Amino acid sequence: MVPKATKARFATLGSLFVLVGGLTVALAEQTQLPTTAEDFFQPGTQPLPDGFQAFEASSLTCAGCHKFDDDDNPDVITSPYITWAGSMMAQSARDPVWQAAVTIANQDAAGAGEYCIRCHAPMGWGSGRSTSGNVDDLWDPDDTDGVACGFCHRMVDPVFSAENPAQDEDILQSLVDAGTYPDPASPGNGRFIFDPIDDRRGPLDDISVNMHGAAQIWHSPHHSESSTCAPCHDLGNPVFTWNESTEKYEFNAVDEAHPDQNTYHMFPEQRTYSEWANSEYATTGVAFPDGRFGGDGHPDGVMKSCQDCHMPKTHGANCSFWYLPDIGARDDIDVHGFAGGNTWVIGAVHDLWDPIYTGLTDDVVNMSMQRTVDMLAAASDMDVVQDNDQLDIRVTNWSGHKLPTGMPEGRRMWLNVQFLDSAGITVEELGSYNWQNASLDESSTQVWEAKLGVSQTIADATGIAEGESFHLVLCDEIIKDNRIPPVGFTNAAFDAIHANSVGEIYVDGQHWSDAAFVIPDGATQAVVTLYFQTTTREMMEFLRDANVTDDKGQIAWDAYVARGMSPPVIMDSTTLDLEPTKGIPGDINEDGEVAVDDLLILLSQWGSCIGCSGDLDGNDSVGVDDLLLLLSNFG
Ligand code: HEC
Ligand code: HEC
Ligand code: HEC
Ligand code: HEC
Ligand code: HEC
Repeated sequence: MVPKATKARFATLGSLFVLVGGLTVALAEQTQLPTTAEDFFQPGTQPLPDGFQAFEASSLTCAGCHKFDDDDNPDVITSPYITWAGSMMAQSARDPVWQAAVTIANQDAAGAGEYCIRCHAPMGWGSGRSTSGNVDDLWDPDDTDGVACGFCHRMVDPVFSAENPAQDEDILQSLVDAGTYPDPASPGNGRFIFDPIDDRRGPLDDISVNMHGAAQIWHSPHHSESSTCAPCHDLGNPVFTWNESTEKYEFNAVDEAHPDQNTYHMFPEQRTYSEWANSEYATTGVAFPDGRFGGDGHPDGVMKSCQDCHMPKTHGANCSFWYLPDIGARDDIDVHGFAGGNTWVIGAVHDLWDPIYTGLTDDVVNMSMQRTVDMLAAASDMDVVQDNDQLDIRVTNWSGHKLPTGMPEGRRMWLNVQFLDSAGITVEELGSYNWQNASLDESSTQVWEAKLGVSQTIADATGIAEGESFHLVLCDEIIKDNRIPPVGFTNAAFDAIHANSVGEIYVDGQHWSDAAFVIPDGATQAVVTLYFQTTTREMMEFLRDANVTDDKGQIAWDAYVARGMSPPVIMDSTTLDLEPTKGIPGDINEDGEVAVDDLLILLSQWGSCIGCSGDLDGNDSVGVDDLLLLLSNFG
C-alpha cells in the first residue's frame, strides 16, 4: 500500500520538510518524499480518453494469427508474436527486477509507482488501472503483457502529416484543447499518444484482407521512424529541475507538476532516444559493410532508425496465412526481437510465470538470449596493440547511442586482461571476475558505466546516505558516466540534452575509448576480453535489502541467483602474442646490459636531438637527465 501523502513543500535550502498540515511517512530510518501523482504528471493521452475502446484482451488474441513457426524459411523465425514474446518489452510488467524497483520507488516517493507503470504496463495505465501505483493492482492480462502488440499498434504520430490517418488531426486537436499535447521537442517520459479506438496502425499499405474484425487497419509511416520509440526511451525524473546558476537538480514544489515540463530540465535517468537523435545515425546514417545489423532486408547496410537495428528485416511472413497468395511472404518483414542488453531477465520471467501467458517456452527464451548475445557482440569492436612494455586497447562503440545505454543502474562493461607466460601460466590478471559471488575487481581495470547519486540535500531530507545510490527516484546527481558516445556525437549537443559524460572527456566525434596496461615481466601472451553485464550484484542486493514493504526484492534476488547472477557475456576477445619488451632504460643498443657502448652512443648525440635513441626521457634533447638515467642502470 502506498500511503497517501498530503500537501507539503520541500525546502531545498533548509534541507528540511516543511509540512503544510500533513504527515510524511517514516520508513525504518527513512523519510518518504511526500510527492503525489501530480508531481509525476506528464502530457500525452491521459487514461481512459473520450470514446475509449478497451485494448484487445491480450496479445494472445493476436497470437491466433501472428504466432506460427512454419513459414517458408524455417531457419528464421519471423512470427511477430514469437519474437516479441522473447523481448523485454513483452515482459516489462512481469520483470521481477522492475517489480522490485517499483516497490522501492513507492517507498522513496509517494505516488512514484504510477509513473513506472505508465511505460512498463502502458495498456493497464491507459485503461486507468494504475492509480495506486501498486503493481499488484494491475490484474488484467493487458496489463501484465507490458508493451504489447495492441499498444504499439495504436500509437499516433505526434506530428500530423498528409500520409497519416486523417482522424489523427482530431486526436491531436483534442490533446491541444485539453492542454496535454506533448511537445515533440521534449521527448520521453511516457508522453505517448494512443488512438482511443482499437484500430491497427502499421507500416504496410498493401494489405489485401483485413482479418481484424471491427478494427480498421491504417497505414502509419510513423511506425517506421524512431519517434515511435521516443516516448518511452528517454526518461527524466520530473520531481527535479535543473538550476542553471547552481548547476544542480533541485527538488520541485510538492503536489505540483514540473514547472516547465521540459524533459531536458529534469534529472536525466535515461537518454537513449536523445543520444541517438544527436548522433550520425539520425542524420546520414552509418554504413556497416559487414552487415552486422539490420538483417538481409537492408542490402546497403546503412543503419539509421532504432527499428533498423532493433527490428532487423528479412524474408518471411508476419501471419500464419503465409502460404496464401494474397497475404504471402514478404521480403522485408520486421522481426520483433527488440534485442538489447538484457541477458538474463527473460529467463527469470520464464521461471516465475506461466508460459501460457508469457509465450516464453524454453525455445523462445533460448532464441531471445542468443539474439541478445549477438547484439552485444555487434555493439563494439576492440583493437589491441603492443607498445613496447604497454598494451594499448581501444573499444569502439558501434551502437546507435551510448554504449552501454538505457538503464543507468547495474549495466556495465569492463576489460579483463590476462598475461600468460610461455608455459601458459597466468602472470597477472586485471579486471578479474569471481563467477561464484559475482564480484568484479574494478580497481585494476577500466569499467564503463554510469553511477547515480543522492545529494546532501536529499540525504538530509530523507535520511538515506549521501553519495552513490540505487534509490532511482531520489537520485539527483550523476557521479560517473564514462559510457562511450555514438558516432557523430558532439559535446555541445550532449550538454544540451544533459547526457554528457561525467568524470571522463570524449572529444567531439570520439566514439571510442582507450585503455592501457603495463605488461608484466615474463608475459609472452595477452588474452583481452571485453565483458558486458546486465545487472550487478550490488544492485540486486540493494533491491532485496532496502525493501521494507513486500517480498518482491527477495523474489527478484532468488530469480537472479537461479539464473546464475547475471553472467557476464563476451562482447569482444583477442589473444595477442607479445614481442619481448625493450628492457631497461639506458640499454640503447639493446644488447641486454647498460655499458660503455651505450654511454658512447648517448654522448655522441649530446644536445638537441629529436627522436634520438639516447633521448631516454623523450624531451627531444640528450642531456644530463638522460646521462643520469643511464648511469643509474649501469652494469
Ligand atoms: C514496441 C512496439 C511494438 C510492439 C510491442 C509490437 N510491434 Fe509490430 N511493429 C512495430 C513497428 C515499429 C513496426 C514497423 C517497423 C518498421 O516499419 O520499421 C511493426 C510492424 C508490424 C507488422 C507489419 C510489418 C511486417 O513485418 O510485415 C505487423 C504485422 C506487426 N507489427 C504485428 C505485431 C504483433 C502481432 C505484435 C505483438 C505480438 C506486435 N506487432 C508488437 C512496433 C511494435
Ligand atoms: C519513460 C518510460 C519509463 C518510465 C516512466 C519508467 N521506466 Fe523503467 N525502463 C524504461 C526503459 C525504456 C527501460 C529499458 C532500458 C534498458 O534496458 O536499458 C527501463 C528499464 C527499467 C529497469 C531495468 C529492468 C531490468 O530488467 O534490468 C528497472 C529496474 C526500471 N526500469 C525501473 C523503473 C522504475 C522503478 C520506474 C518508476 C520510478 C520506471 N522504471 C519508470 C522506461 C521507463
Ligand atoms: C484472424 C487473424 C488475425 C488476428 C487475430 C490478428 N491479425 Fe493482425 N493481421 C492479420 C493479417 C492477415 C495481416 C496482413 C498480413 C500481410 O498482409 O502481410 C495482419 C496485419 C497486421 C498489422 C499490420 C498493419 C499495417 O498496416 O502494417 C498489424 C499492426 C496487426 N496485424 C496487428 C494485430 C494485432 C495488434 C492483433 C491483436 C490485437 C492482431 N493483429 C490480430 C491477421 C490477424
Ligand atoms: C510504451 C513504452 C515503450 C515504447 C513505445 C517502446 N519501448 Fe522499448 N522498452 C520499454 C520498456 C518499459 C522497456 C524495459 C523493459 C524491462 O526491462 O523490464 C523497453 C526495453 C527495450 C529494449 C531493451 C531490451 C533488452 O533486452 O535490453 C529495446 C532494445 C527496446 N525497448 C527497443 C524499442 C524500440 C526499437 C522501440 C520503437 C519501435 C521501442 N522500444 C518502443 C518501453 C517502450
Ligand atoms: C546502429 C544500431 C543501433 C541503433 C540505430 C539503435 N540501437 Fe539500441 N542497441 C544497439 C546495440 C548493438 C545494443 C546492445 C548494446 C547495449 O546494450 O548498449 C543496443 C541496446 C539498446 C538498449 C538496451 C540497453 C541496455 O544495455 O540495457 C535499448 C533500450 C536500446 N538499444 C534502444 C534503442 C532505441 C530506442 C534506439 C533509437 C532511438 C536505438 N536503440 C537505436 C544498436 C542500435
